[in-house]
Amino acid sequence: MAKTFDVELHGIRKTFGSNVVVDRFDLQIERGECISFLGPSGCGKTTTLNMIAGFLDPDQGELWIKGKRMNGVPANRRDLGMVFQTYSLFPHMSVADNVGYGLKLRKAAKEEIKTRVAQALELVKLPHVADRYPKQLSGGQRQRIAIARALVTEPSLLLLDEPLSNLDAKLREELREELKRLHKETGVTTIFVTHDQEEALYLSDRIVVLDHGKVEQIGTPYEIYNEPASEFVHTFIGKSNRLTGHVTGLRGEHVELLAGQGEQVFTLTASPRGRAFASGQPVSIYLRPEKIYLEPAGQAEASVTQERVSVAGQIRQLAFLGSFIECEVAVGSETMMVRVPAGLQPQSLTAGQQVSLSWHPADVFVFPGKGQ
Ligand SMILES: Nc1ncnc2c1ncn2[C@@H]1O[C@H](COP(=O)(O)OP(=O)(O)OP(=O)(O)O)[C@@H](O)[C@H]1O
Ligand SMILES: [Mg+2]
Repeated sequence: MAKTFDVELHGIRKTFGSNVVVDRFDLQIERGECISFLGPSGCGKTTTLNMIAGFLDPDQGELWIKGKRMNGVPANRRDLGMVFQTYSLFPHMSVADNVGYGLKLRKAAKEEIKTRVAQALELVKLPHVADRYPKQLSGGQRQRIAIARALVTEPSLLLLDEPLSNLDAKLREELREELKRLHKETGVTTIFVTHDQEEALYLSDRIVVLDHGKVEQIGTPYEIYNEPASEFVHTFIGKSNRLTGHVTGLRGEHVELLAGQGEQVFTLTASPRGRAFASGQPVSIYLRPEKIYLEPAGQAEASVTQERVSVAGQIRQLAFLGSFIECEVAVGSETMMVRVPAGLQPQSLTAGQQVSLSWHPADVFVFPGKGQ
């Protein structure tokens, strides 16, 4: 028997006027998965979520939920809970009435509503605010209530549109832990929209990276971070040093590269990761700040081996960021950022210090580029 999925998108396309906002969107979500849509502002995340929810109709393509074709089926018959991008509680209703709203619409009995509202408030750890009004809650509490309201009907699908984006950094972290716990406890299939890569990495079984309405990559957080399908994915997730350069040769498993400009160039090697490169081809070379080892100069000579590449540099600036130190290092004509765990740094890093940087070729990402 063919595998059934909770949600299936086949060739979904949506245009507003001449603007193609979502195109050729294919996705299959298994029961119980937590999937994130991740991408920059305007890339089509909310539009796609609204099509899944039934607030918008796709121009092309098919949408299936729990094995049923959903094109044209109104939102209230899709059995889903949704938390919107902006606060969406009814201001004139108490918390209990807000949370119980979906059950009331379904004409549930009063006693049942009361019990299930209490359970939902318990689930989001706010059992004591039932009689308050939304304006008597903090921003984080309001979003917890919006989540309780979405979960109270025990939907088969939970859609969350940037539910944490209006909160401060500390609260965001707390609530994302909460969401992870809720997902584990309820097991509800969830689509979580965000433009915050850390949130997506933290919460998701798989991430869909979008750019300009197109799917760039679908993969686990590990795959998205370590095996990016494109330069866009690599640069959107996490920080990375970009060097310009060109291919000087191909040797065995490795591409040999020359980075830098003028006379201040250095060589390095990278794994091609399945891409074809030709000698002389301009490329963009990326190296993550946490993948670079930094040592005081003299401990290692500049060298290139299959195992490790090392180059000489000079520290320009240091920034202490609590758990790590960020060093700006001049390497020839290039500048590279290096992250050194604060607990492990060589005793005294100082601006102006001569250092040696080294890394493993496997940590270098190379993409076809224009050279600049
Ligand atoms: N009703 C509409 N009419 C015309 N254009 C629209 C409409 N809704 C969205 N758009 C456009 O579609 C594109 C995608 O919008 P969408 O709201 O899906 O982006 P998003 O990825 O959710 O962005 P954000 O992170 O800012 O919320 C944008 O260019 C937006 O201006
Ligand atoms: Mg949006």
